[in-house]
Amino acid sequence: MDIIMDETTSRVLEELEKTQKNFWNIPRKTGVILNMFIKMMDAKSVLEIGTSNGYSGIWLAKALKETGGHLTTVEFYEKRQSVAIENFKTCGVNDIVTPIQGSACTILEYMAPNIKFDFVFIDANKGEYIKYFELVKPHLTQKAMIAADNITSHAEKVQPFVDAIDRDAEFQYEILDLPGGLLVAYRG
Ligand SMILES: C[S@@+](CC[C@H](N)C(=O)[O-])C[C@H]1O[C@@H](n2cnc3c(N)ncnc32)[C@H](O)[C@@H]1O
Repeated sequence: MDIIMDETTSRVLEELEKTQKNFWNIPRKTGVILNMFIKMMDAKSVLEIGTSNGYSGIWLAKALKETGGHLTTVEFYEKRQSVAIENFKTCGVNDIVTPIQGSACTILEYMAPNIKFDFVFIDANKGEYIKYFELVKPHLTQKAMIAADNITSHAEKVQPFVDAIDRDAEFQYEILDLPGGLLVAYRG
């Protein structure tokens, strides 16, 4: 069993799962795992890079409703972001979600230094994972977790990111055997 969601959210998630391939959404199993990690860490400030239509964001935000936290989620395409905003509203999480439209690297480059995240989910341009990691590192709290999708499905493109995590003595990490491959790294 994954998780008991309210009726509306269950319906929205099931609907979005029908178009999963068109919007490159994470598999449901990954959603459940991310939701659990946030609750286990009692994460309060989460950043998602790659919103799409909001499917993964719903899993993240529903956990944050329980921890009393907040989700900031970044998406390049305005149309996809609008769909995500509607989905967040329908699922009753829009009050704890800040959607930002634009290029993730630019947004991170100009982010105020005092903005910190204790959980970051990376799921945008696979070749840019290394840049996201470098740019987000100064914005991590002392104890923080990074999760990144498509580590095995896009192995070549994400290799520089995996190498950087591997070299970084501050982090321990593992790649979970979920569809696409989910890397989870923890700095504690
Ligand atoms: C794999 S999809 C995200 C799926 C979403 N996390 C989910 O599971 O529901 C990647 C998204 O990242 C967006 N994206 C790609 N490159 C980006 C960038 N440089 N900055 C912001 N968003 C980007 C794409 O437009 C796309 O919607």
